[in-house]
Amino acid sequence: MNKEKVKGHIEETKGKVKEVAGKVADNKAMDKEGTTQKHAGKNKADAGDKKKSAKSTSTPKAQEATALLRRDHKVVSDLFDKYEKTNVKSKKKSLVSQICADLTIHAQIEEEIFYPAVKAALKDKELVPEAIVEHATLKDLIAEVEGVEPDGETFDAKIKVLSEYVKNHVKEEQNEMFPRATASKLDMMELGAQIASRKEELVAERSRRA
Ligand SMILES: [Fe+2]
Ligand SMILES: [Fe+2]
Repeated sequence: MNKEKVKGHIEETKGKVKEVAGKVADNKAMDKEGTTQKHAGKNKADAGDKKKSAKSTSTPKAQEATALLRRDHKVVSDLFDKYEKTNVKSKKKSLVSQICADLTIHAQIEEEIFYPAVKAALKDKELVPEAIVEHATLKDLIAEVEGVEPDGETFDAKIKVLSEYVKNHVKEEQNEMFPRATASKLDMMELGAQIASRKEELVAERSRRA
């Protein structure tokens, strides 16, 4: 994909983010409401976890799907921040490799587990298809920098474009898709368990290949 096209897409995405800004407050309220409604169930699950963790500290604490996905978003955003702050080429290279691997696994999990569940629960014909198209662009941007030597300003520019694109995509997920998913009948703990176990598999596969 050429740079103009990518820039155009980013501008378009930014426009969309502004467009939904008005809805965000409502969505946040919905998110809170959903979280409160599910609190009783969550507390029960937490109590179960506490019992389990008393026996074995290695049992990971169950988490809601959106919490797991938000955590991935934060990890990648921190890696982009680190990239911006360093001038050490070897550090840039390892950060980009981590960013690309994390984004690839995250996108795969969303496409395999989270998006289909959300699409079905919301009878959605817009949010999920749009997110899948954005993932395709993300994959193109990743392919341009993965395994490439970080040699100068063009490379830095590509990482900047990737980081801005990811930021906008994440905003749409967190401000629009997640609140609606949380307010739906979806069982976020069950989805969270599926996501956590798939992630474990994909991370293990990646380390075997490395
Ligand atoms: Fe995504
Ligand atoms: Fe995401």
